[in-house]
Amino acid sequence: MAKAILIYGSTTGNTEALSGHVAAGLKQGGADVTVKDVSTTDVDELASYDAIVFGCSTWGDGDLQDDFIDFHADLNGASLDGKKAAVFGPGDSDDYPDTFCDAVSILEEALKKCGADIVAENLKIDGDVEPAFQDAKAWGTKVAGAL
Ligand SMILES: Cc1cc2nc3c(=O)[nH]c(=O)nc-3n(C[C@H](O)[C@H](O)[C@H](O)COP(=O)(O)O)c2cc1C
Repeated sequence: MAKAILIYGSTTGNTEALSGHVAAGLKQGGADVTVKDVSTTDVDELASYDAIVFGCSTWGDGDLQDDFIDFHADLNGASLDGKKAAVFGPGDSDDYPDTFCDAVSILEEALKKCGADIVAENLKIDGDVEPAFQDAKAWGTKVAGAL
């Protein structure tokens, strides 16, 4: 059974809520999942897992959610060779069409630079997250199938 860590950063609770559904999907797909808030997670912890899932909303003008900023900086230079990874996050294309879900792309690039293998297309949720809970769970199951 693949050992996965899902790390989320969330300001108003949307990514946190999505994380519960992604985690349920990962479990349904056969992964052993630990869910953690990025504000209480150290990059060193990634070494203990086979798979890494990041959930991060986009704030400011295409920026990472606040709690992810230091973690992202700490990723620089880390070796994630052999790790499998995937990224999801909510955003708002109506109000931020030019920076829609940029945080997801930023984190995918960081994971690739560290040598991780992106095993599933990212999931970008537009607007209200509640209608997307089922999609989030299905995406988690899909990711688990790629581990
Ligand atoms: C001040 C502000 C800036 C935002 N900037 C962006 C942005 O650049 N791109 C985007 O896709 N969404 C942007 N959003 C939308 C948030 O990403 C969205 O509300 C998300 O669901 C918040 O998730 P969270 O509660 O997990 O932090 C912004 C929202 C606010 C209030």
